[in-house]
Formats: sequence, structure tokens, C-alpha cells
Amino acid sequence: MKIFALPGNTLLARGIAHHLGVETGESTLRRFPDGESYVRLLCEVERQHAVIVCTLFQPDDKILPLYYLARLLKESGAQSVTLVAPYLAYMRQDKLFNPGEAVTSNYFAVLLSSFVDRLITIDPHLHRHGSMAELYTIPCKVIHAAPLLSDWIRQYVANPIIIGPDSESEQWVSEVAAKADAPYLVLKKVRHSDNDVEVSTPVVAAYQGRIPVLVDDIISTAHTMIETVGHLRVAGMAAPVCIGVHPVFAGNAYEDLVAAGAAEVISCNTIQHPSNRIDVAGMLATVMSAYYQTTIQHGQ
Ligand code: R5P
Repeated sequence: MKIFALPGNTLLARGIAHHLGVETGESTLRRFPDGESYVRLLCEVERQHAVIVCTLFQPDDKILPLYYLARLLKESGAQSVTLVAPYLAYMRQDKLFNPGEAVTSNYFAVLLSSFVDRLITIDPHLHRHGSMAELYTIPCKVIHAAPLLSDWIRQYVANPIIIGPDSESEQWVSEVAAKADAPYLVLKKVRHSDNDVEVSTPVVAAYQGRIPVLVDDIISTAHTMIETVGHLRVAGMAAPVCIGVHPVFAGNAYEDLVAAGAAEVISCNTIQHPSNRIDVAGMLATVMSAYYQTTIQHGQ
């Protein structure tokens, strides 16, 4: 196996390679002065399993270089090309919200499935779809960050109450709470537009004295968290710790969340960000190792 990193993914790729005890592959990816992509392979990949680490945050800039590298690896004799995309983009436009819209989660899945052999990702936003197989035609391995979040909470937050902002968060919030040995609450959310979110007021009277820990898969505009932080402060709770698996933080979202009264904002390094405190490299490597042994041995 050889692990390649698209620009911006080198630290994570090195971390995974270190845990797995495999080599990182050498390649050059850069822009020509006119903005087009230049891609060059600088190592042998013949009959090897190539892995490309490319988190798909701001995916429109990444998809073409990713496509070129995957094609080049295949043409250069790689036996398979796996994409490790810790954050998988285009999972939220998963239905027709308004007439005439593109359901881009479907289009993106068709595109990725056409040029990589398998996909490994962390907590993809599976809301209206039950599994990746409903979207992707390649084998997909989904990894859950919940155990890492629970470990962090156990280590750093005394007496927590875990809070999820909406019904779809229950799947990971309940798991995080169980492993952190803490109670949890799930709120109700209505999104009126990209920047207008309404979250129900949490009933927290029974939890006064606990530290609220808000947990969500994605923090994008942070409006979901900001609204919840506001409710908790009005209810007289301590300043909450906010944890996002994927720190997308569009525009000034991070600064806005801190200013709204979060005690701490914590994230996984699925996307590089100053809030990264939870390292996913070891978990990715462990799962990849087991996955490769089974799927590749069976010739998939
Ligand atoms: C949505 O359903 C997700 O689970 C998150 O709650 C959402 O992506 C957060 O978005 P924002 O930070 O823009 O409120």
C-alpha cells in the first residue's frame, strides 16, 4: 500500500502511514499560472494498492486534481485506488427541497464512484439515506468518530450532559453519551435557510450543575450551535463545550460561535482547523488495516 496526500492532507496522510507502517507516495500537484492543474507521479505504484487522502471540504477546488491523480495512479499500474475522504462533501443536498434543484449528493456519488475503487469516510451526513450503498456504487467503509469524542469528553469534561441539536443527531449523540457515561438530550431543529435556523429550547432544569456538551457532525455556519448556546445560557446553564466532528466553519462561523459564549470549541482533524483536538489518524489506520485485509483478500 502507498498513501498519497492531496495538498492540505499531508499531516493526516503521514499520521495514517505512520500508524500502518507503510510508505507515503511522492507526487506533485500544483496549478499552472492559468489555474489549470498539473499532476505528476514521482514513485512506482505498479501492482500496489494506492490510497489517496483527500478530505472533501470545499470540494469544488479538489475534485479535478483528485480525478487526475486517481486516473494517473491507475494508468501507472496501481492495482486499486482507494479514496480516504475523512469529510465527505455534498451529502446535505440529498433531496429536492425546491422544484428545479439538482440533488447533488446523487451526482457527486456517481462522479466519485466512476474513478476510485473504494471510499473510506468518517460520519458522512446520512440523513435521508440509510446507507452509502443507496448513493455510491463502489464499496464504502463508514467510520464513526463517536468513541473518540466520548474519550475526549471523559478525559476533559467533568459531569457532562450531552446535547444534540436535531433528531438526526440522535444516532451519534446517544452513542457518545453512552460511551461517556453521561445523560443526553436531543433538540428539534427547523432550518429556514442557509443562515436561519431555529432550535427548540432544551429542558435542562434537571441538569443544572452539569456542563453542557453540544455535539454535531458538521459545524458549517455554526448557526445551529449558536442558537443552542443562546438557549442554554438563558436557562442558566454553564458555558457549553461545542464539539463538531467536521469543522467546516464557513466564513466567520468559528469566531461567531466563540463570541456567542461557547466555553470551548473542539473538533476532529477530518478538516484542518485550529479547533482540532481529536486525532482521527489512528482510528482510520486501524479500520483501514482490517478493511484491507478482508476486502482485498477477497479480491474486491
Ligand atoms: C445538519 O443537519 C447537520 O447535522 C448540522 O446540524 C448542520 O450541518 C449544521 O449546520 P450549521 O452549522 O450551518 O448550522
